[in-house]
Amino acid sequence: MPPRGKSTTVADALPAQWRRGVYETIQRRRDVRIFRPDPIPAAALARILGAAHHAPSVGFSQPWNFILIRNLALRTRIQAHVDKERLRAAAGFSGERRTQYLSFKLEGVLDAPLNICVTCDRTRFGPSVLGRHTMIDTDLYSTCAAIQNLWLAARAEGIGVGWVSILRPAWLRRTLEIPPKAVVVAYLCVGYAKSFPRRPMLETAGWLPRMSLVETVFAEKWGQPCDGALARILERASGKSHAESEDNVDGRGRAASKPDRTRGGPDTGQPRSGGRIA
Ligand SMILES: Cc1cc2nc3c(=O)[nH]c(=O)nc-3n(C[C@H](O)[C@H](O)[C@H](O)COP(=O)(O)O)c2cc1C
Repeated sequence: MPPRGKSTTVADALPAQWRRGVYETIQRRRDVRIFRPDPIPAAALARILGAAHHAPSVGFSQPWNFILIRNLALRTRIQAHVDKERLRAAAGFSGERRTQYLSFKLEGVLDAPLNICVTCDRTRFGPSVLGRHTMIDTDLYSTCAAIQNLWLAARAEGIGVGWVSILRPAWLRRTLEIPPKAVVVAYLCVGYAKSFPRRPMLETAGWLPRMSLVETVFAEKWGQPCDGALARILERASGKSHAESEDNVDGRGRAASKPDRTRGGPDTGQPRSGGRIA
């Protein structure tokens, strides 16, 4: 084995501060439903859309489009549709669960100054896309990768994004005049957030818990847990941020300071491992 610090992997790693920025952005991203009305500067929006456009895509097909929606009358119609669908969806829950569902704010269509409908053109670059023959939905997965890039870049800019799926794609297609070749993948509310809570709202509210990481990882076949050093690290790391995990970015196993992130509360904007990666 090459000595630590000399392997290709480490040589290709980004500088510690950059790596830290990536992991912190991932940890601090939240689905945002409460926004300030301030408009998003064009330059920041362009950077966020540029991040989306640099996502991986099957066969480099770049199947996405981004419909920017600012018009208040249009957003008011969309809000009315969401309200109706939210009530319909409530029927799928009963008793206290329904009451709790109805108490949640699940979108910011009108609060956010900008909404973005993300579509996937299923015909882009013709019928034969490299890599899509056996997995036909890889164009949709590519579009989701673009959305995640957008979401993370927005967070880095201090801008919140909320994904709203409580609407009928067919209705939205008609409303936004989306052609049959394109699929509605996401409807996003975008704007400066009132806050970025440390934990997902649905976790804080007790709707669902975050699963332990180790339970989600199998070895060699479905259902077989991984073992050894990785299993022990994953068990300890479950629910912690990257910076808090014991073997973090530099791989030297130096423990970062460990603030209590098991509780909710606002993101203070302070680094979570005392300002250093390792
Ligand atoms: C495909 C997709 C659809 C979603 N739809 C909604 C939605 O309609 N309303 C909502 O409040 N959150 C929605 N969310 C956000 C999730 O509730 C949220 O990501 C999850 O609770 C974890 O919280 P976090 O994003 O803050 O980490 C959606 C997320 C995804 C990925």
